[in-house]
Amino acid sequence: MKYIDPISTHSWKNLCIHFKDMKNVHIKDLFFQDSERCKKFLINFNNIIYLDYSKNRITDTTLQYLFQLAKELFLKTEIKNMFSGKKINKTENQSVLHIALRNRNNSPIYVNNKNVMHDINIVLSKMKNFSESVINGNLRGFSKKKITDVVNIGIGGSDLGPYMVTESLKLYKNHLKVHFVSNLDGKHLLDVLKIVNPDTTIFLIVSKTFNTEETILNYLNAKEWFLKKNKIKNKELLNFHFFAVSENTKKVNSLGIPNENIFKFWKWVGGRYSLWSAAGLSIALSIGFDNFLKLLDGAHDMDNHFLHTKIEKNIPIILALISFWYSNFFLSETECILPYDQNLHRFPAYLQQANMESNGKSINRLGRKISCQSSPIIWGEPGTNGQHAFYQLLHQGTKLIPCDFIIPIFDDKSPYNNHVRLVSHFIAQTQALAFGNSSKEVYQELHDLGYNKKEINFILPFKLFSGNNPTNSIVLKKITPSILGSLICLYEHKIFVQGILSNIFSFDQWGVELGKNLSKKIYANLNNNKKIKEYDSSTNYLVNLYKKNIYNN
Ligand code: F6P
Repeated sequence: MKYIDPISTHSWKNLCIHFKDMKNVHIKDLFFQDSERCKKFLINFNNIIYLDYSKNRITDTTLQYLFQLAKELFLKTEIKNMFSGKKINKTENQSVLHIALRNRNNSPIYVNNKNVMHDINIVLSKMKNFSESVINGNLRGFSKKKITDVVNIGIGGSDLGPYMVTESLKLYKNHLKVHFVSNLDGKHLLDVLKIVNPDTTIFLIVSKTFNTEETILNYLNAKEWFLKKNKIKNKELLNFHFFAVSENTKKVNSLGIPNENIFKFWKWVGGRYSLWSAAGLSIALSIGFDNFLKLLDGAHDMDNHFLHTKIEKNIPIILALISFWYSNFFLSETECILPYDQNLHRFPAYLQQANMESNGKSINRLGRKISCQSSPIIWGEPGTNGQHAFYQLLHQGTKLIPCDFIIPIFDDKSPYNNHVRLVSHFIAQTQALAFGNSSKEVYQELHDLGYNKKEINFILPFKLFSGNNPTNSIVLKKITPSILGSLICLYEHKIFVQGILSNIFSFDQWGVELGKNLSKKIYANLNNNKKIKEYDSSTNYLVNLYKKNIYNN
């Protein structure tokens, strides 16, 4: 594999020169110069996802150079390497095969000469039997009562993806109430335990490693609660209610869950890419197994698009290249994700982990300091809530913040005809961000409102919108399991491409380790009343402050 530094390429040099021409160009002028601009920068994915990327600070030339950059970095080869099971996660010596989990045509994919599709299908059928039996009431709790509630205990990828999907697909939900507990803060578990019945609730303990402090502690606490509330001594009865999803079977067994209650996944599934695996069991329980399969189908369609479509028409590639253009040339720091659908409210949080844990890195694939920018900071909120919170900054602040606006065309469940209003805001915001307004328009508006000249001169600059703020509009036909699958997968692959462009390894996450390890030592320090002075003055102060209050000395 060739690990090429993007700044050593011809395209990078061309982009540097081109940027000088582009940095002051206004989106308004780009539209003025080409009345058909939108048609040119539009991709229709199977009549279910429409990407309009015309409101960006790009021209044909920009794209040409960006496409050339992708080619110089052997992007297509890198994509093929991932899809064929090559060990592209070098620092952990692993293949990266979340694409196999949704490989719906079942074509063989090999890891260490073994076709992984065989094991995937076995787990899928175990998930099917389990989820259907819980939903139809055949699989019951120890007291023979039907299951009413499911509690997913997991954190990071073992929470964010499944939680985001079950929320996004709320309209497909069955009678089961599905809850998510992630935080180490015990209040999170407590809040859920307060509202579920001890004999009609099942717990899914989801952890790839089964070594994650938060998850293990929440599991042990839930187990204790379960035994106590049900007044149970016979621990065998736990097996009616506690199930694990993990690749670390041994560790799961050692913590009291037998093999029959384990849904397996594999080292080659990254935690933040695991919702398609058994880590998505809560999804299958919430919306039914057939809908879970539709989610996989939708992702598979996008996988095919990503793998087979040429760079110039490839949605994840185009979005990644545009993102790279802003973060490396305009030096934008963040990207804002704005779903105009309340059920997608966890989508920005999900993408935060997906992008920032994958690409928030500064060492390149040769082990040297990276020479360009890597992951943008991802943030966002559903529209229209964000409009009444931070859009002020998007419109009139000092920072360039590329935004993705996401909306479904159809939302038959939105009551009171609200949806058309939501659509109007969605469109208006991208229009306002791109085109802003003019002094002439503001002058006229104030004049019509009866302001005098002096008043107008004072107030006018505050009411000006300079525009030129880039947006992508991602319009979905509707939020269905399959379309959501395609959407999530689109972003997963965008993130993959961003990683290649920055020349980093996207599928490890060493950056989460140091804090975790230090906390173990600090924890030991906190559990006695001895004053400490072994660290820096700030750490000593914080440890001692806590102890002083707790131990009252
Ligand atoms: O700490 C980061 C992380 O390893 C994530 O990558 C992962 O999604 C999360 O923790 C949970 O890990 P696990 O599924 O092994 O409990």
